[in-house]
Amino acid sequence: MTLTIGDIAPDFEAESTEGTISFHDWIGDSWAVLFSHPKDFTPVCTTELGAVAKLKGEFDKRKVKVVGLSVDKLEDHEKWSKDIEETQGAKLNFPLIDDHDRKVASLYDMIHPNADDTFTVRSVFVIGPDKKVKLTITYPAATGRNFDEILRVIDSLQLTANYQVATPVNWKDGDDVIIVPAVSNEQAKSKFPKGFKEIKPYLRVTPQPNRN
Ligand code: BEZ
Repeated sequence: MTLTIGDIAPDFEAESTEGTISFHDWIGDSWAVLFSHPKDFTPVCTTELGAVAKLKGEFDKRKVKVVGLSVDKLEDHEKWSKDIEETQGAKLNFPLIDDHDRKVASLYDMIHPNADDTFTVRSVFVIGPDKKVKLTITYPAATGRNFDEILRVIDSLQLTANYQVATPVNWKDGDDVIIVPAVSNEQAKSKFPKGFKEIKPYLRVTPQPNRN
């Protein structure tokens, strides 16, 4: 079954490079990013895992836990992590799930048989503290992901979870945001004390409300 935005992210228990993970308990009241890798000892994945290790501080700042998954065994993950450190200059500082039996990959529909019937595609799931799926992204195996974009989207998800705003094209943290149509101009005056500009009745912009 395909997981879509708003679904509860399936719970599971799995072994990882940082011990057993009971997924929902592990998330706790944080946000989480679960992302899959087609296979251990593959070049694109090696670069991705190094990049995420370097960005760990950015995820921590946003109270987001990251966890990778690959359909290989823990012993391979451990050998591979030495290569990641050697070639990418960053030590794996988040768990990598042993999914050699493809249990989690199946739960999350990470194997797309028309692409490859054994390896996972590059899936990304952003999950909220309520354990609901907030974002899904799927890349093919041969295309590495952009984790700066994933951080950008998390900034938007966390902002729009707390304020009645939406973020426009190419928005980044600090840019003006859009007031959602459900908010009247009268309500907007009190909800957005920094003021707002009405470009069209349906297009009103205001400074990012959680910034000084
Ligand atoms: C990689 O991670 O480098 C990769 C995996 C499968 C197909 C192509 C590239």
